[in-house]
Amino acid sequence: MKHQSAERGAWGSKLGFVLAAAGSAIGLGNIWGFPTQTGLNGGAGFVLVYLVCVLLIGVPVMIAELTIGRRSKSDPVGAFKKLAPESAWKYLGGLGVLTGLVILSYYSVIAGWTLKYILMTVQGVFDTANTESVTQIFSGFTSDGYQTTVFHLLFMCITVWVVTGGIEGGIERVTKILMPVLLGLLLLLVIRSVTLPGAGAGIEFYLKPDFSKITFEVVLAALGQAFFSLSLGMGAMITYGSYLSEKEDLVSSAFYVSLSDLTIAFLAGFAIFPALFAVEGLSPDQGPGLIFIVLPNIFESIPFGQAFGVAFYILLAIAALTSSISLLEVVVAYFIDQRGWHRRKAAITVGIMAFLLGVPSALGEGAVPSLSGFLANADFLFGKLSLIIGGLLICIFLGWKWGIQKALAEIRSSNDSFSLAPVWTILIRFICPLAIAVILVDRLLSLFRA
Ligand code: PFF
Repeated sequence: MKHQSAERGAWGSKLGFVLAAAGSAIGLGNIWGFPTQTGLNGGAGFVLVYLVCVLLIGVPVMIAELTIGRRSKSDPVGAFKKLAPESAWKYLGGLGVLTGLVILSYYSVIAGWTLKYILMTVQGVFDTANTESVTQIFSGFTSDGYQTTVFHLLFMCITVWVVTGGIEGGIERVTKILMPVLLGLLLLLVIRSVTLPGAGAGIEFYLKPDFSKITFEVVLAALGQAFFSLSLGMGAMITYGSYLSEKEDLVSSAFYVSLSDLTIAFLAGFAIFPALFAVEGLSPDQGPGLIFIVLPNIFESIPFGQAFGVAFYILLAIAALTSSISLLEVVVAYFIDQRGWHRRKAAITVGIMAFLLGVPSALGEGAVPSLSGFLANADFLFGKLSLIIGGLLICIFLGWKWGIQKALAEIRSSNDSFSLAPVWTILIRFICPLAIAVILVDRLLSLFRA
């Protein structure tokens, strides 16, 4: 499998690839974003729509990205240069690399909060907490720029350290250990949550759809969430696909990765909603404060809550790390492939750039229990708009420019019985671009609504 240059690297096995790509997908978006969105958008109805979005839009786009990556064996910029030479498509790759850098910059700030929460939970800071005091603790910490910056730096250093180790020796090795730990911790939390007295109301909220709550807005929220959660639209899957060997099946790879992502998001909701409904006086529609303000209250009021609290924030930090690694890898791959840099130099330089770019996000969070300021703007422009624009253009590129036939030939080189080819063709040429264009318009219009 190791036919590529030493500097680029390659996955050691299919399992290693699937775990690493699932690690990229599974992140703050699953454990924090998905339950937050589910809580805000009415519960089970959202879960159902989300499932449909992942299957109909997410999986086909992931197959597209992996195909482009493996065919070109290059970073996002190089991929479009190779498949469409002398054209402006390389700027789409450039947008992906820039998006990776910016998302990494603020993702690491939030991941830094999770490190601080691990420490605070261990120290028992939340032991006698109520909603008011947790809000104060959260606001006190997030408006203390020195501390948020230090934890942001710490998290970035860990991310750089993993990526410096390379594809097989760094990313694959670390994710192979962390993903099973993540699953184990999550299952533990689910069992705790569903066995609490009064958990039934939460299970109902989460599993019994109220179809009257499924509005156009809910569908758009689900689709946007699916894109971010599956790490689509910025070339992360192009990059990870570029390290895949010729013999691995791209379609089943995309399915396994998406299924893992779905499963973890679904379990995260199971860990949170039953417990939330079991504690009197808490409501699910808290927005981003759900994880950092509501949960400490829950842990405070259930048996062995402190231990489960520590487990939860470790879980969140692990999920964030396996995603931030992939964000960094997209930019590092660009410097290795396009600029001829050594991996170590690329990882350290990009890490410093992303750290500096993240400082305004680390300093800018005020004393409010939701995102605001610099971080929120960076997230809107890059985590929301840019991923969607990238996803739309990737569909157009594959479906209309590079060509479905060439893509199918690449997919069939490792799976000659791709029986869903006609369905995938229709999805990637028509349905996905259309659906993505609709959220793009909605997000652009939201700029004027605000
Ligand atoms: N999928 C990650 C999450 O759910 O938190 C975030 C992410 C990682 C988005 C990598 C995009 C990406 F390329």
